Amino acid sequence: MIDSLPKAELHLHIEGTLEPELMFLLAERNGIDLLYSSVEEVRQAYQFTDLQSFLDIYYAGAQVLQTEQDFYDLTWAYLERCQQDNVVHTEIFFDPQTHTDRGIQFGTVFEGIDAALQDGRKKLGISSQIIMCFLRHLSAESAMATFEMSKPWHSRMIGVGLDSSELGHPPEKFTEVFEKARQAGLKTVAHAGEEGPADYIWGALEALKVSRVDHGVRCLEDEKLVNYLVEEQIPLTVCPLSNIKLCVFDNMADHNIKTMLDKGLCVTVNSDDPSYFGGYINANFHSIQKALKLSHQDLYKLIRNSFVASFLEPEVLAKHLSELDSQYKELSNA
Ligand code: HPA
Ligand code: ZN
Repeated sequence: MIDSLPKAELHLHIEGTLEPELMFLLAERNGIDLLYSSVEEVRQAYQFTDLQSFLDIYYAGAQVLQTEQDFYDLTWAYLERCQQDNVVHTEIFFDPQTHTDRGIQFGTVFEGIDAALQDGRKKLGISSQIIMCFLRHLSAESAMATFEMSKPWHSRMIGVGLDSSELGHPPEKFTEVFEKARQAGLKTVAHAGEEGPADYIWGALEALKVSRVDHGVRCLEDEKLVNYLVEEQIPLTVCPLSNIKLCVFDNMADHNIKTMLDKGLCVTVNSDDPSYFGGYINANFHSIQKALKLSHQDLYKLIRNSFVASFLEPEVLAKHLSELDSQYKELSNA
């Protein structure tokens, strides 16, 4: 059921799909020396103790991305994985500052990613949107400069987001740039309540006026917040394998996604940085299904939420939902 149903992915950092094999290929193509001598050694290094220990390695890995073709190849490889996992719609994040701060032009990054997404639509039938994330460990001024620089591409992105080191960088730091983004017609989302407290989720809602919260697993520490999220049906884009790799939970059996679902929260399943966390979207579903004994109804609800929580136009959304519902019915009757 997990493998065969169509689904959407809403929390995916395109830089986090860089597989070690492609990292080596791009390093060679661009004449860059890697710290690792083999693909196996790279995978060995992917052992993290928290978010920051991951980010250090993740930003280092992204250095091999230099040309428009590199960003195209990265994105195309992800789309091929989408096809395997029956992802029919994806809303992907990219981190412009990771690239512009080392001298890569904004347009090089954006055009490479977008060209692959356009080919994904034509050749694979996968629809997509782009969300530009600001790095929260950098200053509000840097975010604002990035926003200004990105103006020529605003009509080709659906929204802005906020990622990187959460603790010590509350959402309120970025109130002004998010306000500008909304004025420009962009939607807003933000990572909150991954490592940071429930208060950061309130901050994302109140100061940044987000339509979705990325991660949000710490919301259960605040009953009033849970009630609000349920009432408003604010989606939470949960990333189970990521949470285990970054030690947000000790084991998958301790993950709170089933509790969140049972409370009526609009939760979705996503892969975050699949190359670094050991699995794409279906692997995330299989892992929680096994550890938390999810029912068919639970899985169906999670998959249905992925479309409901997306930024798809109402008519297109309705089509996806009716397709999903009829496939689920067929499976249930089989
Ligand atoms: N959290 C914060 N920043 C990130 C993540 C994440 O899970 N992945 C890539 N950047
Ligand atoms: Zn993320």
